[in-house]
Amino acid sequence: MTVAPRTVADFIGWAERRFAEAELYFGHGTDNPLDEAAWLVGSALKLAPHELEDHLDDTPAPPQQDAIRALVEARIRSRRPLAYLLKEAWFAGLKFYVDERVIVPRSLTAEFIVEQFQPWIDPARVRRMLDLCTGSGCMAIACAYAFPEARVDAADISDAALQVARINVENHGLRERVRPVRSDLFDALREERYDLIVTNPPYVARVEMATLPEEYRHEPALALESGTRGLDAIARILAQAPAHLNPDGILVAEVGNSAETLQATFPAAPFTWLSTSSGDECVFLLTAEQLQRYHATFSSAR
Ligand SMILES: C[S@@+](CC[C@H](N)C(=O)[O-])C[C@H]1O[C@@H](n2cnc3c(N)ncnc32)[C@H](O)[C@@H]1O
Repeated sequence: MTVAPRTVADFIGWAERRFAEAELYFGHGTDNPLDEAAWLVGSALKLAPHELEDHLDDTPAPPQQDAIRALVEARIRSRRPLAYLLKEAWFAGLKFYVDERVIVPRSLTAEFIVEQFQPWIDPARVRRMLDLCTGSGCMAIACAYAFPEARVDAADISDAALQVARINVENHGLRERVRPVRSDLFDALREERYDLIVTNPPYVARVEMATLPEEYRHEPALALESGTRGLDAIARILAQAPAHLNPDGILVAEVGNSAETLQATFPAAPFTWLSTSSGDECVFLLTAEQLQRYHATFSSAR
């Protein structure tokens, strides 16, 4: 006999089972049904992730129970990423507004942002930063928290994405330090020089797009696809970055599962692949000096 969920813990367990049975894809803020269920229930109860544990034995009020059930059904029926249903995402410990105008924040670069990219750069010297391909503005804003003295440009080609980035800049009270800019990569940033450039550009190969789980089809294709091999955006960034970095500056870029293709395309390039806590190595770092040294190689690939 199935017992109806009563407590917060019951609802999390029930949602987890429903998600697992429905064989949803988890990759937009969580990577398993339990975490997804806990996020959904916590958000429906207006609890931050770190507050949930203290409320596991509470009994949600009937309207809250209805809201949880409706969200679970919507997640299963629509296959929309949970972040879009909740209009929220968590990145580097911070909460962001999101909707279908931007991808759901999930860049592994978050780990390095909260560590201030140590030991690769002296945080005290970071004054100007660029988040290229900013989407929701999550990396630009997380960088502004990590480097309180820095001014950050948050660039994207999509006006729709920049509208979301502006909401987040406003919500975090960072209008003085984070500037959303419409730019096709570096095109509108001609005169700008930075100590640090971070980027999570589109990097999915065209053929791979059709193979992505249903959840990805709710995200803007412009944010995912980047030419036949997934390297169009990053190749342009590698060629143009040295002109926008100060002498001690660094570029940190995420390229997901295009990492192997990128390394194979530039076999001699001295990419430093940064290890994340999960063991993934899809974020690389290059110094301004390295980018300058390999400028001819990177430019020839365009
Ligand atoms: C993978 S998403 C990253 C968003 C955000 N940085 C994050 O990590 O959640 C890539 C972003 O690049 C933007 N984009 C695509 N082509 C671009 C271009 N040529 N110039 C600037 N931005 C571009 C898309 O609009 C999208 O917001």
